[in-house]
Amino acid sequence: MTPISVYDPLRSEMIRDPYPTYARMLEETPIHWHAGMEAWVVVRHADCVRVLREHETFARDPRRNGEKIPEFRQNVQMMDPPEQTPLRRLLVSAMRSQDRKKLFDDAVAFLRDTLTARRPGEPFDWMSDVAAPFALHLSASLLGVPEPDASDYAEISHGIALRMDSGLAPENIPEGDAARKRLNDLGESWFPRPEGDDGLVAQLIRRADDEFLGGHYMRNSAAMMFNASYGTIFAMVGNAALLLAAMPEILAELSEPEILPTGVDELVRYDGPAQGTSRVAVRETTIQGTRIAAGDSVVTLLAAANRDPRVFDDPHDIKLDRRPNPHLGFGSGPHACFGSEFGKLSISAMINALSDDAVRLRLAAEPTRRVTATVRSLGVLPVCLER
Ligand code: HEM
Repeated sequence: MTPISVYDPLRSEMIRDPYPTYARMLEETPIHWHAGMEAWVVVRHADCVRVLREHETFARDPRRNGEKIPEFRQNVQMMDPPEQTPLRRLLVSAMRSQDRKKLFDDAVAFLRDTLTARRPGEPFDWMSDVAAPFALHLSASLLGVPEPDASDYAEISHGIALRMDSGLAPENIPEGDAARKRLNDLGESWFPRPEGDDGLVAQLIRRADDEFLGGHYMRNSAAMMFNASYGTIFAMVGNAALLLAAMPEILAELSEPEILPTGVDELVRYDGPAQGTSRVAVRETTIQGTRIAAGDSVVTLLAAANRDPRVFDDPHDIKLDRRPNPHLGFGSGPHACFGSEFGKLSISAMINALSDDAVRLRLAAEPTRRVTATVRSLGVLPVCLER
């Protein structure tokens, strides 16, 4: 197997625009061994789907390979079926019971207020002035918990995003683990809440039996959900804003109610925040004829799979009415995102707030990106509004 020297996710060209490299990998090296990460990297849609769905072969839970996982890292995302199933069911059913219309109206109102506070033509940073407070507000409303301090929380979230890249940068592990512990402490503080309100955490308290309530898995999972929500909404609302500033005609198209649902999925396919995720083989298998040994790690590059021409016509074009759109921006299989409806709700709310107010976003200076590989996110997005 030829080692692919072009795939270095933290290199500046990749941080700026990974898609040309993904396109080359899709054709030339659908699977290769990445010595730095000590993992197989797969990019084609069919291979990624198989790895994500075939949990009997590809484990998320490192304990299935004999690794020990400290209690603070144990949550729904670290477990595999069948052990994961009852907890995931509980979380999904609490999630489904949320009032989407109320959350949507609240999200639109929050964004309108944030945007009206801006004078036309005055530059501001979309990421710190809009994306971060919006992601914090929406995540706290969804879980029905108090909004944590914004700068404390930004630190926790960034520490966890760096931890996700620890295969590439092991020096991030201590900071990432410290951030995870701070997140779990925050989660612990939500659980003595009295019954009677209707947020997700209150639903969990109402629905869970004593075994779940007394255990750390559910509490850690609630905290993990907050962060999964905050981190992805922050990044997605930034990626989408950059597209809208560069291609204002998209906003007009997305304002059509019949285009909005497919359009939002297309934005996630085209430039979503989740670039990849990993699993570990628990038994020997092959991918594209390459032998994968038990114990080998496999990284699926979801964002590359989302541009696979075998599945998507004109993969590098934005087609807001693309249907079907089996993108992997929300993953697939037993770990697929169960907050995807709320992720999409946040983008729809943003489109609504911008188009109802007849506001256009204009880039005020070059944006800067965060140097993270698993999550693709802007750091600073200088824009101004035109009315
Ligand atoms: C546009 C926004 C979002 C994107 C792009 C996104 C993406 C993803 C992806 C790709 C995964 C699968 C990871 C894997 O297989 O390893 C995932 C899992 C997850 N997401 Fe999201 N997500 C978004 C919003 C949300 C929101 C709003 C929540 C709210 C709670 C959420 C909660 C979760 C949870 C709990 C998991 C883990 C599920 C499990 O392992 O069983 N996500 N997300």
